[in-house]
Amino acid sequence: MEAKRPGRWQGRSRQNMGLLSLPGGLCRWNNNDEENSAARSFILSSVLWLAFVVSLALILATKFVWPDFLGGTAWLSFGRLRPLHVNGALFGWLSMSSTGIMLYILPRLTGVRLYSERLGNLTCLLWNLLLIGASITLPLGYTQGREYAEFILPLDYLFMSILALLGYNVFKTVARMKDKAMYVSLWYFLGSLVWMPFTYMVGNNFLMDTTGLGGRGPVPGVNDAMLNWWYGHNIIGMWFSTTGLGIFYYFLPVFTKNPLYSHRLSLIGFWTLAFFYVWNGQHHLIYGPGPDWLEDVAITFSVLMLIPVFAVVYNFFKTAQGSWHLMFDNSHEHLPVRFFMVGGLAYFLTCTQGPFQALKAVNSNLHLSYWVVAHAHLAFLATFSFISMASIYYILPRLLNTSINLRLAHW
Ligand code: HEM
Ligand code: HEM
Repeated sequence: MEAKRPGRWQGRSRQNMGLLSLPGGLCRWNNNDEENSAARSFILSSVLWLAFVVSLALILATKFVWPDFLGGTAWLSFGRLRPLHVNGALFGWLSMSSTGIMLYILPRLTGVRLYSERLGNLTCLLWNLLLIGASITLPLGYTQGREYAEFILPLDYLFMSILALLGYNVFKTVARMKDKAMYVSLWYFLGSLVWMPFTYMVGNNFLMDTTGLGGRGPVPGVNDAMLNWWYGHNIIGMWFSTTGLGIFYYFLPVFTKNPLYSHRLSLIGFWTLAFFYVWNGQHHLIYGPGPDWLEDVAITFSVLMLIPVFAVVYNFFKTAQGSWHLMFDNSHEHLPVRFFMVGGLAYFLTCTQGPFQALKAVNSNLHLSYWVVAHAHLAFLATFSFISMASIYYILPRLLNTSINLRLAHW
């Protein structure tokens, strides 16, 4: 199959909308049909959420050194702010930036406009309301108490509606595509939008009557932990990784200025990731109270993950061959390349760590240490946040008709 070369540029936005006009822009969702406006709203919102969540992170880190810092106020305690940092970073910054970048890429890969910019802007508005809701409820202590599934029920319903609207917009756009050959990024985006709602529904117990009375709540006993980690692992693998890799594959030829080394290898990576990732959940509970056989299945598939990972990494190194010097070029044009290449290298490191830390002998030494938090940040911050940042540095100047402050960016 002939891969479509990404990077076709379909006209700049004429309207220069700075960061400060964001709230007004979001409120005008109902009459804003301007091309790329949904992508722009998502990206600008995500940057604001990034500023918020890293400020929270700074407070959390300070509390490690001075545990009494801001002490005495319940809503400023570590236990209340940590879930806000984690959920805000994952569902605010990273999910919204990936969505914005995906909406920017989509017309360029399909050759048609986004099905509805208005719907995209409405989705962005609702997404911001979701995060505002979480920023109020989590510090007040309203939580489902399950990692990565902390949002309370009304927010869960709101998130499901958001995912449905986003999925509708993206699938309608792809359906209008004339040339049916799909570049690998589209596979990743479509896969993410099918897997994520299902994973979120299962992880938040939408599909189960767990109380026997038609209600929702924790599944009895250890099953709840197993379900939680099936979910926790799958949002990592079937949402954050897949949206991130879709973006990665689009920008790889753009930033390295080389054609993608192998389209076939990229699709082998996609299908093996889809098949292997979903069996990994129990590697978060090694030596836990769950069944041993399930741990063994998870460990086996964790090691098999080396196949999709190396499909991505090999494609990365071969495509980037001869282009590494661009990382050290200080011009505007190549500013994003540095973030992008570091993101690619961090993916290689994270996903080489992963299969080894799933082995029982290794895991028993690492599990209760800060290695795990570091692995999480190597993946979410150094890999996928850097890839998002590179993409934003590329996209924003084009959408806002402005240029990045080079000195600040290098600093
Ligand atoms: C081949 C790929 C990977 C494998 C086999 C793998 C394996 C693992 C294992 C075994 C753990 C559990 C460590 C413990 O608690 O003892 C873990 C934790 C974690 N991994 Fe990965 N990992 C991989 C890639 C990734 C990627 C790409 C991401 C993010 C996009 C990621 C995010 C995380 C996070 C957030 C945790 C911590 C979860 C928590 O306890 O809160 N991993 N990983
Ligand atoms: C300046 C940057 C950041 C700092 C200083 C920081 C700091 C922290 C701290 C202190 C924790 C709590 C660790 C604990 O409970 O012991 C944490 C957890 C976490 N953060 Fe960040 N963070 C940063 C950026 C990010 C970003 C950008 C993301 C995602 C896009 C992220 C995702 C997470 C996740 C998933 C966890 C839970 C990890 C686990 O349970 O293993 N962080 N972070």
